[in-house]
Amino acid sequence: MLRYHEISEADHRILNPFTEEKLLLLGEVSRIGPGTRILDLACGKGEMLCRWAAAFGSAGHGVDLSEVFLAAARRRAGELGVAGRVTFEQGDAGRYRASARFDAVACLGATWIGGGLAGTIGLMRSAAEPGGLFLIGEPFWTDEPPGEAHRALGFARDEFASLPGTLDRFEAAGLELVEMVLADPDSWDRYAASQWWTIHEWLKANPGDPDAPAMREFADTSRRSYLTYNRRYLGWGVFVLRDTAGTGAPVSPLR
Ligand SMILES: C[S@@+](CC[C@H](N)C(=O)[O-])C[C@H]1O[C@@H](n2cnc3c(N)ncnc32)[C@H](O)[C@@H]1O
Repeated sequence: MLRYHEISEADHRILNPFTEEKLLLLGEVSRIGPGTRILDLACGKGEMLCRWAAAFGSAGHGVDLSEVFLAAARRRAGELGVAGRVTFEQGDAGRYRASARFDAVACLGATWIGGGLAGTIGLMRSAAEPGGLFLIGEPFWTDEPPGEAHRALGFARDEFASLPGTLDRFEAAGLELVEMVLADPDSWDRYAASQWWTIHEWLKANPGDPDAPAMREFADTSRRSYLTYNRRYLGWGVFVLRDTAGTGAPVSPLR
């Protein structure tokens, strides 16, 4: 699957249904500022860390499995002149053990790294300053999906919830929701539909590649399930949360 994503998202900088504007808005509403230290688990091409370092003066460390995405992240840091403030490391983010605590810990679009939302929150907690900020990018159902939607989209039946159901999950984990930025159908299209062109071009250029038949099937299946279910029933957003478990700390801005 990783290789399919490396191919289909070769032309993307942001590997989730956010536009650049939404990514910057997320940094603003999260009060990211000079010196805010961010750990990004499953950071992809590191666009969030790099853009925020350039726009807000933050610093960060990203962990991802993909050497292809990490090479793009390091190039991007150089391009934006922030290579001194953001670092990247290859590895399984589910096994990451932080040697320092971070002001904010993010996991956007990859909560499987900890075996689901609750496990990933546990991972994030182990790397965050007490009362720290959590940024979690997660899908949610916008309407009750038909039973076959789960299978078509490759999700377990209770993997995701409605928006209020997602809030319940955060609260059960001891997190307080303090802000959020949501994708919309147009920004979802930029993430999903722009992959179709990239895959089309890749298949044209690599007809004999051993992965070509599987890549075509991946494209056909994901395009159809996107149009049939994803676009109608699935939302995505980044939830900005404060850890209240055990701290009794009031919610306050980072700066
Ligand atoms: C949907 S993308 C999101 C990337 C990035 N957070 C973003 O929003 O642009 C999922 C990312 O998870 C990475 N990934 C998947 N499993 C991982 C793991 N166990 N540890 C680290 N990264 C992982 C993939 O390489 C990919 O970059």
